Amino acid sequence: MRVPLIAGNWKMNGRREDIRALVAGIRERFNAGARVELLVLPSFPYLDFVASTLEGSGIDLGGQDLSERDDGAFTGDVSAGMLLDCGCRYVLAGHSERRTLHGEDDQTVAAKFETALRAGLKPVLCVGELLEERDQGRTEEVVRRQLGAVVDRVGIAALADAVVAYEPVWAIGTGRTASPEQAQSVHAFIRSQLADESATIAGQVRILYGGSVKPDNAVDLFACDDIDGGLIGGASLQVDSFMAIAEAACP
Ligand code: 13P
Repeated sequence: MRVPLIAGNWKMNGRREDIRALVAGIRERFNAGARVELLVLPSFPYLDFVASTLEGSGIDLGGQDLSERDDGAFTGDVSAGMLLDCGCRYVLAGHSERRTLHGEDDQTVAAKFETALRAGLKPVLCVGELLEERDQGRTEEVVRRQLGAVVDRVGIAALADAVVAYEPVWAIGTGRTASPEQAQSVHAFIRSQLADESATIAGQVRILYGGSVKPDNAVDLFACDDIDGGLIGGASLQVDSFMAIAEAACP
């Protein structure tokens, strides 16, 4: 069975002291015996610091992005090797804020996904439609294209250790969550797209939901068959809300 994963994407938030308190609170509340995995994704400058404060906690660390290239003359970029060196096990690829604000297209995201895998990181592929695309009835078409670009590039077997996060763009930071039915329907679609290539891999891959997950909607979302946890933005910045969401994943 798939163990739920609750990931806190801190985005570009926090300073050392906020982060110190946040990690201490999460550590204190985390029950390492619970059937849930926790992952935190700080900004690059704090990775090393968070890695040291997480030591021995069983909580995983990840990067919010990576370069598709290996080390070299790429000012401002961060390589997969650097993330690994800082203690990361996971990395996001294709978060909607990277796609929209930094112009990352499906090919770039697929290249980043491949680079992460090659380095030994577990990529979390983020997919999701814009409001306009949902209103036009194009959600499945968009998600199929985003996921397909990655599967075509790396092959289905390479997804065995990966995670997919469905984050409808209209639900990110808006307080407007997808209903459990809306989310489950897209998650089932993603799993069926994977199953067209390999039923085994499709059964293994964790598919997280992201977009305004809060303690009061988490239980219903996580009760859905194909939702294996969450990628949490705003609510991951407070110990109480993040841990309440984590607890909702392992009732
Ligand atoms: P919010 O939980 O703030 O809507 O953000 C979701 C997200 O983008 C996580 O990656």
